Amino acid sequence: MSATVVIGAQWGDEGKGKLVDVLASHADLVVRFQGGSNAGHTLVVNGKKTVLHLIPSGILHTDKTCVIAAGVVIDIFGLTDEIKKLKEAGFHITSEQLLISDNATALLPYHKVLDKAREAALSDGKIGTTGKGIGPAYEDRAARRALMMADLFDSKTLMAKLEFVLKEKNALFQGLYDLPSISAKEIYDQVQTVIEELRPYRTADVSLLVSTKIKQGKRVVFEGAQGTLLDVYHGTYPFVTSSSTIAASGAISAGVGPQNLSKIVGVFKAYCTRVGSGPFPSELHDEIGQKIQKDGHEFGSTTGRARRCGWLDLVALRYAIRLNGINSLAMMKLDVLTGHEQIGICTGYKVNGEIVSEFPTSTELVTKAEPIYEYLPGWTEDLTKIKAVKDLPRNVLKYIEFVAQQAGCPIDVVSVGPDRDQTLWIKPLFKD
Ligand code: IMP
Repeated sequence: MSATVVIGAQWGDEGKGKLVDVLASHADLVVRFQGGSNAGHTLVVNGKKTVLHLIPSGILHTDKTCVIAAGVVIDIFGLTDEIKKLKEAGFHITSEQLLISDNATALLPYHKVLDKAREAALSDGKIGTTGKGIGPAYEDRAARRALMMADLFDSKTLMAKLEFVLKEKNALFQGLYDLPSISAKEIYDQVQTVIEELRPYRTADVSLLVSTKIKQGKRVVFEGAQGTLLDVYHGTYPFVTSSSTIAASGAISAGVGPQNLSKIVGVFKAYCTRVGSGPFPSELHDEIGQKIQKDGHEFGSTTGRARRCGWLDLVALRYAIRLNGINSLAMMKLDVLTGHEQIGICTGYKVNGEIVSEFPTSTELVTKAEPIYEYLPGWTEDLTKIKAVKDLPRNVLKYIEFVAQQAGCPIDVVSVGPDRDQTLWIKPLFKD
């Protein structure tokens, strides 16, 4: 009786969506537990690409249930659009397939306006947010003025809460950001254009559902968004997202006891990327970084921004293993590293002249960290058509072994391309 959590062990974009999609074929329930449409989970099935932002990555398996839990901030227009696009692609999303918690936070247009206005007003110290309103929506939740999903289905509550919340927002828009005010009626009318489409997916008690499934011995997969180093408590604050991205957050969001989460899968790329501002010790500012960016198509699936690229950072990976309790690693995009004479791996940092092996607790120190590299020989072979681990070139196997040994955690799966069948299991997570 336990659930599997899939989380990002770097700065996001590790390929969690692909892994969740693959695992979902063996699961009963997939639970998305934090973030919002700042996430972009790209799935490729039989060469066909689907990008999801809010809907759990299990949705392409029509016999599985996907749940959006309380810790997610839901852009209702974005969600409606995602459902529409899936329907157009032939996936008829039924109310058995998708369930949305009444307790999730509604992300409304004024959150996006505030997110963008704040970023635009910053000269130095921009976070480089996705502009999707994530920070302002979580802020409202913590300040107890958020509209929950349940509020949207009740016209009286909706209007009253909008009037209350917009009083303060409009003071900010007009007084601080020189922006026009937004009326409660305007938002109310916009909500009415989509709310009936979402009603069938409404569900009151996610905690009861998920707990019952776990008790019944069903397979439940928790799907994280963003990555460990963007965690609001443990990441490189303030260059982080506004939710807790680590595994324990799954239990809080779904409303189940933490002991239920026993298999914690840390997803990481065979190299590192970061999008947005903030420290990135192993970032490469040279042609090697550019090659990784080009070969890995490292451009954001939500914003299209170019991702910063660098060698794998083991200091950061070990930190992620500790914070999440990761007991299984998934190495993604290994194929992208083909064609380098040697592969760098950051095994430590030099900070203020001292060699450190643990991730510094202050962002200021992470900014000062100079990477210490070990180099392993590279390879020239195309890995994308390889079907079994044993067929991987020797230098690739050496790289995998080195990383697992240095990380102190087994690598159970490697990915050599975006499609489902480009997934090589060293040790299957599920037996059937
Ligand atoms: P926000 O989550 O839009 O507030 O953005 C805060 C920071 O997190 C920025 O640096 C974003 O680029 C980053 N971020 C947010 N979502 C993702 C994601 O899904 N992948 C990678 N970075 C992300």
